[in-house]
Amino acid sequence: MSIVIDKNLFTLHTRGATYQMKADQWGTLLHLYYGERTDSSDKSYFVQQNDVGFSGNPYEAGQTTRRYSLDTLPQEYSCFGTGDYRITAMRVQNPDGSQAAGLRFRSGELLPGKYAIPGLPALYAQEGQGETLVLHMEDHVSGLEVELYYGVLEDLDIITRAVRIINRGTEAVTLEKAASVQLDWQWGAFDWLSLYGRHSMEQNVQRTPVRHGVQSVGSVRGISSHQYSPFLMLCEPNATENSGSCYGFSFVYSGEFLMELEKDQLEQTRLICGIHPDNFSWRLEPGDSLWLPETVMAFSAQGIGGVSRIFHRALRENLCRGVWKDKRRPILINNWEATYFDFTGDQLVSIAQAGAEMGAELFVLDDGWFGKRDEDISGLGDWVPNEEKLGCTLKELGERIQALGLDFGLWLEPEGISEDSELYRNHPDWAVEIPGRKPCLSRSQLVLDFSRSDVQDYIIGAVSKILSGAPVSYVKWDFNRAICDKFSHALPAGRQGEFAHRYVLGLYRVLEELTSRFPEVLFESCGGGGGRFDAGMLYYTPQIWGSDTTDAIERLSIQYGASLGFPISCIGSHVAAVPSHQTGRITPLNTRGSVAMFGAFGYELDPGSLSSEEKAAIRAQITFYKEHYDLIHHGDYYRLTAPDHPNCTAWEAAVPDGGTALVTAVYHRVSPNPIPVRVRVQGLRDNLWYEVSDGTGVYRASGASLRQCGLVIPAAKEEYQAWQMLLRSGGSCDED
Ligand code: GLA
Repeated sequence: MSIVIDKNLFTLHTRGATYQMKADQWGTLLHLYYGERTDSSDKSYFVQQNDVGFSGNPYEAGQTTRRYSLDTLPQEYSCFGTGDYRITAMRVQNPDGSQAAGLRFRSGELLPGKYAIPGLPALYAQEGQGETLVLHMEDHVSGLEVELYYGVLEDLDIITRAVRIINRGTEAVTLEKAASVQLDWQWGAFDWLSLYGRHSMEQNVQRTPVRHGVQSVGSVRGISSHQYSPFLMLCEPNATENSGSCYGFSFVYSGEFLMELEKDQLEQTRLICGIHPDNFSWRLEPGDSLWLPETVMAFSAQGIGGVSRIFHRALRENLCRGVWKDKRRPILINNWEATYFDFTGDQLVSIAQAGAEMGAELFVLDDGWFGKRDEDISGLGDWVPNEEKLGCTLKELGERIQALGLDFGLWLEPEGISEDSELYRNHPDWAVEIPGRKPCLSRSQLVLDFSRSDVQDYIIGAVSKILSGAPVSYVKWDFNRAICDKFSHALPAGRQGEFAHRYVLGLYRVLEELTSRFPEVLFESCGGGGGRFDAGMLYYTPQIWGSDTTDAIERLSIQYGASLGFPISCIGSHVAAVPSHQTGRITPLNTRGSVAMFGAFGYELDPGSLSSEEKAAIRAQITFYKEHYDLIHHGDYYRLTAPDHPNCTAWEAAVPDGGTALVTAVYHRVSPNPIPVRVRVQGLRDNLWYEVSDGTGVYRASGASLRQCGLVIPAAKEEYQAWQMLLRSGGSCDED
């Protein structure tokens, strides 16, 4: 049993972790433990309280003791306004204007399998996997009921949490803040690792100690954002890639979020994670309920890498869905950096043809094929092919591509609307704007109001028409701006605070409908690169364009950061031309291929500009990638050095049984008289011999030696050189 219930004591076990909570005599749901797997015995002895001045006592308890305070107790879901002065999980606006709530435990309930959330993405259980615990809490004054959901996927080492709030009272209540997770640690110092960035430079890793006060990352941009990722880790200060206790939290949501940490007066640490409260309020009439998004949690005693590998597997196997979840993704050639908006149908076909000759399997027609769209200032919303520009219908173009032996893919930005479009002229109220205010433009465009069901229906219809009218087998679902001026003509004034969340729910409804109508189509999402790189999108689209930066050296840190919480199989990554369009940097083709193939692989360049040697090299890259696809995409992923290493970034994929491994190293710096770079190889079997092909020769070493002594990365002979080193097992050392 992964969930053990002993009266009011609830213990959850996964392969490597245990989580425990208990409802105490006053009905407070205490958090007792989350960490390395242990027994189910009651750990409440560990909650020792003193009389802490200025931390008051709930009325009932305060009659007899001053040692019981909500301001100091570790709790599962705390409320604002009733004596817990720290960051809290829930804040409500009561009918009398007060902002207080006090949740008391009512009952616990075990459900078979893993819960699902209507209209929201969530991890799902496979056959025989998963259990759910629901803890019912209530506020006796307002009648609000809060259901805390815990999904336990024991073999995956994952616990998920979600929350449903129901108004069982007789008057409307407004939620001002409703988080998905609270986690309290009673002691211990932590570092937190977050991912920050900007457009074209996403997923930088920041590691800082948790200090007194409140620290947070979040987004009020309508999207999860390039600036901060809805993923973070907490670890012991001495934790490394391969050792130490670490926790990971992934918010399965594609909109505004807030992940807050507070180290309190007693050196306790609290994490709160949920929808960002700044643009959120939700009115619950009597009988209404609201589900809050899921957070996925993992603990590992094997360091940062241990947590990453738990997330890689869980997201790959229990979040991604559909036929493309396990099927090898096609190697694509995309025309964006080859042509931008300036193309004809014949040019597209010749790019596709050259791509096919090199081994590509899918041609993706990017922006500019529809409406009036020869630059990025017009046309968004008019999803009608520009036949004059294409020289034929979209169907005919798709068929020409198919005749080359390639599949045909299409770029769309369904959430965008240009002022200069038929759609805007016909439906100005469908754009997100506040009446009487000039809207903020971004990339010269506005946002379509996806919170409205008529807009959702329109887009479902328009996209369905395109996908059924032409042989399209792939969609790049882009979104090229953040959202502000939040307002919907379809919502009353008292509900405008619901806009941002309703927008995301609308997006999910549209994606759910389209992915079920077109189950064979591979959807890749994109938010101007990594603007919506989150676990929520992965539920609908098994890959996400990693960044608008295709420079291989910049991609090292982008993909390194993303790999903290996301499987590399979901990171869209392409080989582009040199000099790089973003940086002007010139990198060897081998380096560009070695980096891009650790992702959803493709090419984004004009093959017409390649020499025959380069074309042959690309053919070889594609053959190598196909041969090692399972190892790269389904193997265990290890980060061996970080991008801030003085010489090179190295990483590894190993098949889980340790039979084969591929180590890739990319130099960011060459120096005369170089000092050899050595890395310790992970995931091998100590007692097997390995044949090491390091690109300069072949030698034999035992798994134990490669783990303990390490592997020498050959020196770089040119700038930005990459090495791909294959390690294949060849017999047991015991037999020698
Ligand atoms: C975004 C995407 C690019 C490309 C352009 C087209 O920036 O990230 O890959 O599709 O839009 O306008």
